[in-house]
Amino acid sequence: MFEFVPDPADSRADRLGQLLEAADAITRNESDAVANMANVAALIWQFLPELNWAGFYRMASEDELVLGPFCGKPACIRIPLDSGVCGVAAAEGATQIVADVHDFPGHIACDADSRSELVVPIWRGGKVIAVIDLDSPRPSRFDETDAEGIEALAALLSDRI
Ligand code: SME
Repeated sequence: MFEFVPDPADSRADRLGQLLEAADAITRNESDAVANMANVAALIWQFLPELNWAGFYRMASEDELVLGPFCGKPACIRIPLDSGVCGVAAAEGATQIVADVHDFPGHIACDADSRSELVVPIWRGGKVIAVIDLDSPRPSRFDETDAEGIEALAALLSDRI
């Protein structure tokens, strides 16, 4: 087992930087997409506090996402691109920071505990191939620093998943 123990005193930006370094180290020499997504979901879970779900949805077709490796409760398996925070992020190719999921039209409640959400698309060859989805039980858990950190992670993973 690999154990990465973040220091509780570290800032949000420090933790995101450590997450990126650990994700780089653990995926650098592995070409299997599922293995890399599984390990990165576990790393996100270890490094970032106040999450109740962290994982991946991959493009199953041009208009649908399918569940990938994650940590948290079992989740909805397929998400059409015209629904949910994940669907909007994938359709628009744009990061979504949702302060309160109850205010997001079409939000898909996989876990009733979720109150805020961050979804970041992963691009390859000019197309969105997957999204990284983070949920928190705390409203307004995610900010621009988180978005930038997870966007850097998405860029790193582009050719590793
Ligand atoms: N809430 C997401 C669905 C996925 S779960 O959060 C794991 C959405 O609205 O797309």
